[in-house]
Amino acid sequence: MTGTDTSAADAAKEAAGRAAAALVQPGMRVGLGTGSTVHWTIVALGERHAELGLTCVATSQRTHELATGLGLRVVTPDEARRLDITIDGADEVDEAANLTKGGGGAHTREKIVAAMADRFVVVVDGSKLVPRLGPFGTPLEVLDFAPAVVADAVAALGAVRVERSEARSDNDNALLRAYFPPIEDPAALAAALAAIPGIVEHGIFLGTTVDDVFVADVAGVRRRPGGRSR
Ligand code: 5RP
Repeated sequence: MTGTDTSAADAAKEAAGRAAAALVQPGMRVGLGTGSTVHWTIVALGERHAELGLTCVATSQRTHELATGLGLRVVTPDEARRLDITIDGADEVDEAANLTKGGGGAHTREKIVAAMADRFVVVVDGSKLVPRLGPFGTPLEVLDFAPAVVADAVAALGAVRVERSEARSDNDNALLRAYFPPIEDPAALAAALAAIPGIVEHGIFLGTTVDDVFVADVAGVRRRPGGRSR
């Protein structure tokens, strides 16, 4: 990637993140995702925090620090219980709005906070669009007790490679990345991964849980319907 490509991608991330922030109304309860795209949503909300008076839930320690540093009020998921909207990034988005998430190791908290919300909005630059999920690798948060046993079970589902990350999740669990051939049936793979003992959470988010996808590139920002609003 050249310097020009990098700055174009950065500009697209900012455009997508800021566009989604415009959906947030005063007094809302807002789930805040993790990553370099939703970073800009959080910055935009922080710029208006006094006027908006939001109650937010953060999906990671990093997001918590960013949001509170910008003056946003952040509470725990149990204090909020329900959210009006959650906005988050993604590592891959297919045509049915199925997502790969967890490139930042935060997908367990991200899935909880997405499920708490009446509306789940995804913000990406155009490089995240794929015909089929898979090339990025599917992030897995796993217990330390038997990660190699979990990796064997994931390989038995068809993963050609399972790598262990040196990073750990905010929940202090191990992180794996499983590389499958292009995923033809994300719902079936999600169910099979969820059934493996020792996997705390996998990074496949089904399109049927997504309301909107904001995609930005050099041509501007466009909103695609998620699978829940089709
Ligand atoms: C973190 C995530 C992020 O949303 C995902 O990695 C996208 O990040 P970025 O906007 O930096 O590309 O799932 O766990």
